[in-house]
Amino acid sequence: MAANQLVFDATALTAAGIGAQGPDEHAIGGLVDAARRALELTQARRQRGEIGFLDLPDDRATPRACMDFARGLDPTIDTVVTLGIGGSSLGPRALYSALAPAFDHLASRSAGMPRRLFFADNIDPVTFGTLLERVPLERVLWNVVTKSGGTAETCAQLLIVLAELDKKLGADRGKRHIVCTTDPAKGALRAVATERGYTTFDVPPNIGGRFSVLSPVGLLPAALAGLDVMGLLDGAQRMRDRALVPDLATNPALLLATLLHHHHHVRGRAMTVMMAYVDGLYDTADWFRQLWAESLGKEKSTDGRVVNVGPTPIAARGATDQHSQLQLYAEGPDDKVYLFVSAAQRGSEVKIPGGALAESQPELAYLAGHGLGELLDAELVGTTSSLVRRNRPVGRLTLSRVSAEALGELLMLLEAATAFAGPLYGVDPFDQPGVEEAKRLAFAALGRPGYEALKLEMSKAPGPDPKYVL
Ligand code: PA5
Repeated sequence: MAANQLVFDATALTAAGIGAQGPDEHAIGGLVDAARRALELTQARRQRGEIGFLDLPDDRATPRACMDFARGLDPTIDTVVTLGIGGSSLGPRALYSALAPAFDHLASRSAGMPRRLFFADNIDPVTFGTLLERVPLERVLWNVVTKSGGTAETCAQLLIVLAELDKKLGADRGKRHIVCTTDPAKGALRAVATERGYTTFDVPPNIGGRFSVLSPVGLLPAALAGLDVMGLLDGAQRMRDRALVPDLATNPALLLATLLHHHHHVRGRAMTVMMAYVDGLYDTADWFRQLWAESLGKEKSTDGRVVNVGPTPIAARGATDQHSQLQLYAEGPDDKVYLFVSAAQRGSEVKIPGGALAESQPELAYLAGHGLGELLDAELVGTTSSLVRRNRPVGRLTLSRVSAEALGELLMLLEAATAFAGPLYGVDPFDQPGVEEAKRLAFAALGRPGYEALKLEMSKAPGPDPKYVL
């Protein structure tokens, strides 16, 4: 069995690292029952077939189908644009940022090479209009992803792209430039794909958008970019097995969920800062921002009470945000928990030269002969120390290196921790009524038939008060 590629060091989330500001062994002992219950509830839902993300790593037919599709794609197509938003974009973007070479868009490509990926999640007409003007249509695959099949942003983009393809390439040729990932049976995208005969991949009905990164939502773009999808699943599988052990002392996902919930619930630390000290992992922090916020921010508890709970996730990048956020983190209110994500081996190093220039300037000489990675690691040590010295809670997530397997472990760790945090907060981590309400309000605002009553209700909301419009 391959060795674990990810270490979760929780010391500075406990009294062992931050004294009375963290739970001691006795207090952690008091959290064991709730943790075990959270795991049991999640397992029960899994066994009833309600949640599927824990089982995705066992499905190897789907990644093979994704790789076959990538291999069979017209070799002159060298660019993939994903049309999708929320979970349909953040997961694949995290994979691509972490595992493809930096600045992959700039690499020149010959026919059949791994494709460069773009993610057109937002609908700002300036951005999307420019994309349409600039992409060479005949070299692009449009990867349309919507689990529900009906998200307005993605459907609008799809309609625009299809009209463009029909006009410039013709419907028949255009067909080779579209692939769809959606619910196996329901929704507008499924209907369009069936009518037009597009290739499709299924999102299993029991996989929600933000838990879909290891489904074709993430795997298909990853395969198109030539990333190691099987390695990703191997790592996720290994972490899944660890995450299902009903023992707080050995289960990293359960321990993470329990300690983050404790710092919020007992000590009022409502914000979770994930700070990546690897550029390629910043988008993983951004992906986690959605996962943590949308899963746990809820009005109602599972037993129907109004609770309005949820932690606020913040994504940050080291060392950049040391020069933007750290002042607040270190000296501002003690209302945050920090998760630092880094890699023990960075894979490459850029040496800082010595020589006459550095030696002639005493203020530069200390840099000479070190590497940028070494400097970044030193900055990580400096930042964590500055927080821990003030007894601020810090968890460390360290990948042995940024590999597909290690990333698979990290993604599964965070997904499982989120699933367990749901019952700890007393909420269902797998629904998103607030997002769906906003989708309905947008339909009403745009005048979609069937939403007239909602539009009328919206029109009764107070308008701008001239007193406050300056
Ligand atoms: O996690 C979720 O369910 C949401 O964030 C969705 O991913 C997002 O709203 C997009 O939905 P869909 O994939 O149905 O277009």
